[in-house]
Amino acid sequence: MTVKKAVIPAAGLGTRILPASKAVPKEMLNIVDKPAIQYIVEEAVAAGITDILIITNRGKGVIEDHFDHSFELECVLEQKGNTEALDQVRKVADLANITFIRQKETKGLGHAVLQAKAFVGNEPFAVLYGDDVIIGDQPAIGELIDVYNEYGLGVGGVKQVEGEQICKYCSLDVDMIDDRVMRVNDMIEKPSPEQIMSQYAILGRCVLPPEIFEILERTPRGAGNEIQLTDAMRQLTLDKGMMAVEFSGIRYDMGNKLGIMQANVEQALKHSEIGEDFKEYIKELSKTL
Ligand code: UTP
Repeated sequence: MTVKKAVIPAAGLGTRILPASKAVPKEMLNIVDKPAIQYIVEEAVAAGITDILIITNRGKGVIEDHFDHSFELECVLEQKGNTEALDQVRKVADLANITFIRQKETKGLGHAVLQAKAFVGNEPFAVLYGDDVIIGDQPAIGELIDVYNEYGLGVGGVKQVEGEQICKYCSLDVDMIDDRVMRVNDMIEKPSPEQIMSQYAILGRCVLPPEIFEILERTPRGAGNEIQLTDAMRQLTLDKGMMAVEFSGIRYDMGNKLGIMQANVEQALKHSEIGEDFKEYIKELSKTL
């Protein structure tokens, strides 16, 4: 059975980018002219996902509004004959079959994914972290789905993280199968420097079998006193096995300030409307640095 459902956890507090995330969810921060979470939904749709559950919490209602129709705005654009803007606004509401559920307590990513149990049922599903935007020629989650379809095991999307930077993420023990695909032997969330197993970390994407829910239900709080998805994926690895694939796109971490700026500068340089002007501006600016 191939993967048709996706879960986007977007209920974190975003404490690393306060005050920006005080009233605006970090998943709604823009990369040039489009909120992060729209890039993520578009990636899922490009990979053949038809049903998406976004996990939100109090104060994240604007995410729901963004993926809904805005009749007032659509009406005004129609009257003005601004068909280009009208198409863009309407397209967002029709991207996929999107539903929402609230995580009532912020108990961690594993706990957020657990809220998707009824939505997922007995199918494999994709998880796309709401603050990790991946831009590339192919949808990153599609690269993971291909590996799931080949091996029938859960798949983590990985990248190499330099040096001790990996201590902020998770570290995987892997056996390489080819230059992108690997079998996972073990993993640890937020390792101390002596616990680093490799420089490979799962960043922002995974495909999981429904068995993950039984595991999550008995996963105790781990690093940061949160129910960690990594701890449940480790158990899945030991029980059934798991694969990993180094996805080809560029990942932007919209949960930290530098990631937000990198995303905006790099994507503005490629933007069809402002790209050339922005390049000139950056060239001039760089002379003063
Ligand atoms: P992060 O750990 O990056 O998000 O979680 P955070 O907790 O908002 O980060 P801080 O406060 O800056 O350290 C990765 C993804 O999981 C979601 C977040 O919204 C983010 O998209 N998440 C995290 C939840 O949905 N629920 C949680 O309890 C924690």
